[in-house]
Amino acid sequence: MKSRWWQQAVVYQIYPRSFMDTDGDGVGDLPGILARLDYLAWLGVDVLWLCPIYRSPNDDNGYDISDYCAIMAEFGTMADFERLLAAAHRRGMRVILDLVINHTSDEHPWFVESRSSRDNPKRDWYIWRDGRNGGPPNNWESIFRGPAWEHDAATDQWYLHLFTRRQPDLDWENPAVRAAIHAMMRWWLDTGVDGFRIDAITHIRKAPGLPDMPNPQGLAQVAAYPYHMNVAGILDYVDELIRATLAGRDAMTVGEANGIGPDAAEEWVGATRGRLSMILQFEHWHLWSNAPQAALDVMALRRILGRWQRALHGRGWNALYLENHDLPRVASRWGDPQRHPRESATALATMYFLMEGTPFIYQGQELGLANAGFASLADFQDSFAHNRIAEMRASGMSEDAILDEMRRTGRDTSRTPMPWDDGPHGGFTTGTPWLAAHQDARRLNVALQQADETSVLNHYRALIALRRREPVLIHGRYTELAMRSTRIYAYTRGEGSERIAVMCNLSGRPATFRHAGFALDSGGLLLANGPVAPHGPRHVLSLAPWEARVYRAATAS
Ligand code: GLC
Repeated sequence: MKSRWWQQAVVYQIYPRSFMDTDGDGVGDLPGILARLDYLAWLGVDVLWLCPIYRSPNDDNGYDISDYCAIMAEFGTMADFERLLAAAHRRGMRVILDLVINHTSDEHPWFVESRSSRDNPKRDWYIWRDGRNGGPPNNWESIFRGPAWEHDAATDQWYLHLFTRRQPDLDWENPAVRAAIHAMMRWWLDTGVDGFRIDAITHIRKAPGLPDMPNPQGLAQVAAYPYHMNVAGILDYVDELIRATLAGRDAMTVGEANGIGPDAAEEWVGATRGRLSMILQFEHWHLWSNAPQAALDVMALRRILGRWQRALHGRGWNALYLENHDLPRVASRWGDPQRHPRESATALATMYFLMEGTPFIYQGQELGLANAGFASLADFQDSFAHNRIAEMRASGMSEDAILDEMRRTGRDTSRTPMPWDDGPHGGFTTGTPWLAAHQDARRLNVALQQADETSVLNHYRALIALRRREPVLIHGRYTELAMRSTRIYAYTRGEGSERIAVMCNLSGRPATFRHAGFALDSGGLLLANGPVAPHGPRHVLSLAPWEARVYRAATAS
């Protein structure tokens, strides 16, 4: 398989609203990203994924687009974007945009026209239906809670919105809609962007007739939606989109792909299929979403990630991630921010980062940040959070219990401003930040961690450098070790004398690593998250709580 540039790359996800504010309005902006490019270059990342920067009324922080070809006023101008893109390119970094094409904002001119009358030419750009018995057309619930339909009094019909009611779904069955989306994508590619992260791509096709379905229970986007997720025929839309936009260009695409399992993944990202470069799968975070209180189940994590590794080796490509702007911080989910903050953050980092695939880092993850410690429900800004809070109130839950739940599971928990230094608001803004600064901004900021060789930040930097130095970490086969361990996640990459062994104790208790196939010698130690006493060739290693080590395992025996 010919190696592609995005297979070598490490992606850094920027939530522009919270990255860096340069004009004091409390909201991050494009000049802020520009001002921090040297930091990103220092860290060593190759691709910047910008969460939506388009014009938007911000009902869902930019995931509700009102103009695909304009920049959100708070973030700056198109000239700012062009400067940022050029500056990133000068540093050898690429930029991919978040492409939200399942829906638009209700303020997008297409929707404004569409809702204006039943016979408007854009009426069939969205999904309008008559009600049923005075209620919505079917029983679908929004992924963000409540009915997935909104009634429009003026025309007495309902429109579908899988997300907030201000995010009406486009009707992808309509070829004019698809053509307009394709044209917009070509426009951005011609502007020089290097690819897209495609939002909610598995939802664009809805089952014909929009039949009722069993609505899933549980948290957020974690469940199965038989009639609007991975509906048969969806790949025809993807094929057409690729042909019309990306074909012949060397762009990177990463699809947000809820509901795709490792067996179906090859169809989406198979090297010979010519569809997407990679997808963001959801299976490993279901582990947590389905049991938010439970400790990390190392066996289950290995089962899930291992299947993805094996399914795509030599056939497609994985996206590797632990965090994003929709998830609470991994330190709080699976780590131990109280007793082993640095060790748990670095062990989790080592575990996923050296697998086969393109690693993604979400801003602040490289600092080992835990969930924001919001003091009250009024601090939560996310519309999805507002829906959930209302729902919990209606069910009679106490305010304390709701706050506890939201502090564990809300999306705002990972969206706080990036802490740059120990100044006010972590140096993010000279004004009042749109979301309260992180409680640990003084202790865990970039400036302090850059200067501390043992910091989580420097561990991420070392992981990036290691991956760049060792070609076997890009394409070498992944093989699990210590397969019955409930604490250690260990694997090798590559074969024979070209092997690298990664072992991570993902628990707060000591653990013993045993492997008979080869010996490990401290002379071959490539990386560790704590001091390792010199040792000769060994088949058994004792790992401290949350200890992670990476060795060259050259000696087959
Ligand atoms: C995706 C985004 C999320 C957004 C949703 C609706 O899941 O990651 O942030 O709210 O799509 O666009």
